[in-house]
Amino acid sequence: MLSIDNTYNADELCAFDKRVEKALGQKGYDYVVELKIDGLAVNLRYENGLLVSAATRGNGSVGEDVTANAKTIKSIPLRLLGENLPEIFEVRGEIYMPVKVFSQLNQIREKDGKPKFANPRNAAAGSLKLLDARETAKRKLSFFAYGVGENSSLATDSHYESLQRLKSFSLPVNPHTTNAANIDEVISICMGWEQRRAGLDYEIDGMVIKVNSLAQHDILGATGRAPRWCISYKFPAEQCETVVENIAIQVGKTGALTPVAELAAVQLAGTTVRRASLHNFEELDRLGVCVGDTVVIEKAGEIIPQVVK
Ligand code: IVH
Repeated sequence: MLSIDNTYNADELCAFDKRVEKALGQKGYDYVVELKIDGLAVNLRYENGLLVSAATRGNGSVGEDVTANAKTIKSIPLRLLGENLPEIFEVRGEIYMPVKVFSQLNQIREKDGKPKFANPRNAAAGSLKLLDARETAKRKLSFFAYGVGENSSLATDSHYESLQRLKSFSLPVNPHTTNAANIDEVISICMGWEQRRAGLDYEIDGMVIKVNSLAQHDILGATGRAPRWCISYKFPAEQCETVVENIAIQVGKTGALTPVAELAAVQLAGTTVRRASLHNFEELDRLGVCVGDTVVIEKAGEIIPQVVK
């Protein structure tokens, strides 16, 4: 399983489009734009319609066998439905934890004196790797399919069509997947979701843009790391303002002391934030943060919220 190269702005998306156009030698191509679900990539293998294995992406070549746990996830069908099922069919997608489930899980963990998960992705990863599948079942993980792996006979011409086939087999495909005629449309779809992402009940960290035609995937090929027909657009970290109510000193396992800002509770990227890391005393000095100050906090990827200004 390969990875995806990242872009961070419209100019970089246009540069990607130029590379595609140059490699294909023509303008006759379109795109599929998908939400980039912030979870764990898995490969599900179906043989004669039955789920026989689920593996995490791992290092791309070797992942972890999570079959027993994946089988407890309600949105992962144990048996595919529909006509003309390929004998061997591997589907790729993302296992994730809905934001509501994540908040409830952390509340319970706090009550039980257990360490809280930093974000839904870590919670999903932890939940998928539990030794007892009955415990995984309680974590209410979910799944979206976004691609096809090895298959004996899917015979579709486009990525969009492949996704329709996945749906027809009863695999859950994200409903916000759209076709875009050109890079300008891609950019406006990406910017639109950057504004609307907080309204989703799962976290996304960007968008994934894929050339639609499968024949063109073959022409474009891949580097050692990532396919040339696919790119991600990563959203900038979400920021918001809140007030520092206290500065506490946290003692780490090794005895290291870390200053932590205790904040007036605020919603940020789908969770309620009450604390933010100040990293160390030099950083505390540099920021000059005092109790009662209004600060800008941000949540970047898997990192615990931090004070940036
Ligand atoms: S396509 C070869 N589509 O993002 C390309 N990935 O940063 C295979 N991801 O490892 C991936 N949503 O875990 C694809 N709609 C989507 C995705 C998606 C989330 C994850 C996936 C991948 C990571 C790369």
